[in-house]
Amino acid sequence: MHVLVIGSGAREHALLLALKRDPQVETLSVAPGNAGTAALADQHDVDVTSADAVVALARKVGADLVVIGPEVPLVLGVADAVRAAGIACFGPSQDAARIEGSKAFAKDVMSAAGVRTATSEIVDNPGHLDAALDRFGPAAGQRAWVVKDDGLAAGKGVVVTEDRAVARAHAAGLLDEGHPVLLESFLDGPEVSLFCVVDGETVVPLLPAQDFKRVGDNDSGPNTGGMGAYSPLPWLPEEILTQIVEEIVKPVAAELVQRGSSFSGLLYAGLAITSAGPSVVEFNCRFGDPETQSVLALLDSPLGQVLHAAATGTLADIAPLQWRPGSAVTVVIAAENYPGRPRVGDVITGSDTEGVLHAGTARRDDGAVVSSGGRVLAVVGTGADLAAARSDAYARVNSVRLPGSHFRSDIALRAERGEITV
Ligand code: GLY
Repeated sequence: MHVLVIGSGAREHALLLALKRDPQVETLSVAPGNAGTAALADQHDVDVTSADAVVALARKVGADLVVIGPEVPLVLGVADAVRAAGIACFGPSQDAARIEGSKAFAKDVMSAAGVRTATSEIVDNPGHLDAALDRFGPAAGQRAWVVKDDGLAAGKGVVVTEDRAVARAHAAGLLDEGHPVLLESFLDGPEVSLFCVVDGETVVPLLPAQDFKRVGDNDSGPNTGGMGAYSPLPWLPEEILTQIVEEIVKPVAAELVQRGSSFSGLLYAGLAITSAGPSVVEFNCRFGDPETQSVLALLDSPLGQVLHAAATGTLADIAPLQWRPGSAVTVVIAAENYPGRPRVGDVITGSDTEGVLHAGTARRDDGAVVSSGGRVLAVVGTGADLAAARSDAYARVNSVRLPGSHFRSDIALRAERGEITV
């Protein structure tokens, strides 16, 4: 099987590594890729938001399967075009990708499926903002305001704050730019990311993970695209995991089938485990980053065959997934000033090594690897338990050099210490 992976982040680097372990995957291509993925796949610099360009590339490389990593091409309908060209594609249709691309659609699906989620309100008129802020946050007895960009914003459009002035300024800024604002009730409790491979009503959950969205230790500073992750979650009881699959993901998948928007691909449930049980923060239509780097490090089953089965409507026939024992911890190394405008062009050393996945990197003409984005590398450590995986990850982090870079030092620390309870 020849697999073409679309995307350029550490998530796609992780997908390529896992695909390479599948004996049925003979060759790999990636578009556009990064300096790290070049060692695993032939690279093609195409516009991945262009359906025509992706289809032309898939034909040119003779792809048997196209795996679309990021949400933007999915929301734009690139998976539909690949399928229409007669090539198997792992990734939902434009219609089903609205579960991530349209908050209103997602809320409607969840309501119809009877799934618990945050209450929310969309504000598109600055004149209505103050009254709406009064209905959320501490003004309404909740711990914080949750203010989101109603469109795709890679996590960075989210502000969670106890300070009304900060909430108001973020919302007003989004409205000024012409973006509707989503106000949500704050969901208290530890967060879980559960990725499920879905093909219609067939749902195959992967190991649960947790990510770290704030830039600084102890969840300080602004939100980012994700600064680290670990998997599995020793504090999450098996019965809650079953409840998430049976009472949340399966009803949502069935509801999508029922309304003619059947989902085929990776359905990502982002949840908070509240005192009233699991509640959905958001659904995404693709693998999460950086959780994927931890989850796939532990996958023993052949990823190419699993994704191909979902893409061809035969997911119900695959063998139960097999996992390596132990834990995986991912630590993101970010460029100076990230999540603000990152400094790019710095030379990185020590990144061409096992466990160091590339995200915002490029290869200069002289061969040097340089930073080219905010999240530059995702370093994955594994071990018999979280303590061993953490120490493996941080040892690898310390062997990388990137001037001005920063990373969180507390990824998975509270879980390792047994401080997370539900
Ligand atoms: N880890 C957050 C995301 O992928 O959206």
